Amino acid sequence: MRLLKKVLAVGLASAMVFSMAGCGSGAKGTTAAPEATTAAETKKEDGSAAETTAKAVKDAVGGDLADKKVGISIYKFDDNFMTLYRTELQRYLTEDLGFKKENVVIQDGKGDQAEQTNQIQNFITQKYDVLILNLVQASSAPEITNMCKEAGIPVVYINREPDTEEEQRWKDEKINATYVGCDARQSGTYQGEEILETSNKGDINGDGVINYIMIQGDPENVDAQYRTEFSVKALTESGMKVKELLKQRGDWDQAKAQQIAQDALTQYGDQIEVIFCNNDAMALGALQAIEAAGRTVDKDIYLVGVDALTEAVQNVIDGKQTGTVFNDHFSQAKTASDMAAKFLKGEAVENVNMVDYIKVTKGNAQDILDKLK
Ligand code: BGC
Repeated sequence: MRLLKKVLAVGLASAMVFSMAGCGSGAKGTTAAPEATTAAETKKEDGSAAETTAKAVKDAVGGDLADKKVGISIYKFDDNFMTLYRTELQRYLTEDLGFKKENVVIQDGKGDQAEQTNQIQNFITQKYDVLILNLVQASSAPEITNMCKEAGIPVVYINREPDTEEEQRWKDEKINATYVGCDARQSGTYQGEEILETSNKGDINGDGVINYIMIQGDPENVDAQYRTEFSVKALTESGMKVKELLKQRGDWDQAKAQQIAQDALTQYGDQIEVIFCNNDAMALGALQAIEAAGRTVDKDIYLVGVDALTEAVQNVIDGKQTGTVFNDHFSQAKTASDMAAKFLKGEAVENVNMVDYIKVTKGNAQDILDKLK
């Protein structure tokens, strides 16, 4: 499976180089297709697929990408989703785009913007050719962008979206900066829809009101705000009445979410019909609390998350989580890397590049799980 995924991604990378295609906006990404087996075998016979791609890239860049240095900083390593994302970034950049392993350096921002700004300053001093940044504080984007602009280094922001005014400035002032992410309004809406698609539309006790608790991520990521707002909006826009029993920050963290859910279940008991979690790590924590309280998901309580972590998707299959939303780290890592390569090739890059989310419920959970493996 891993090989198929890799080979398909290689194919896509070659296609990008030759066609100079625009940024990815769909969630197609690097998922494996059965035909890829034959493609893989054919390519193997002709020489390695990676070599073919590396040569194509070299021709298009008019130099060797392998010699270019990519500096990556992740807001903190201790984050389930960003760990999947950075692993895929490294794999795609080196295996598919042909960057040398030693030229792709990933640093841990440790949740500290001052520390991360230092790391970025060091990348600049060491003359890195392009940066891929997952900021600790998205609000630092103007300052960081200006540092990179002065040094003539292009920058690809990922996951924590700078505000629209800043993104517009890159366009207006022709600054080599771009953002790659997903529109979190879509994931929030999908979460709400998953509740509406249950047999009683989330109104388990049939009193005409959906009582929910909301466990939020770190508001430094706009994803937390949008998922909170749009999950509930999907319910109210369909005509359902809702009541928020509790809204609390779990900072994307499983242990914090478990504690929040445990306290809420103690305080509100059977009144809680739905637990919305802004991500799956927190849904896993909430599930521990739900089980400890003797409640049963999809029977007397609903639970939704976002990301499609393997464990959460397995829980959807097993009926322990109502649904999740695939935050496609394969497509996001590919698009971010492709944008970095475009900058290096001197090609035009849009200021914002969005990848689609995919709704995950019992019906397609096994397909999604297969793609993740
Ligand atoms: C993901 C979270 C992650 C956060 C990091 C979000 O898009 O859904 O799981 O913790 O990004 O900024």
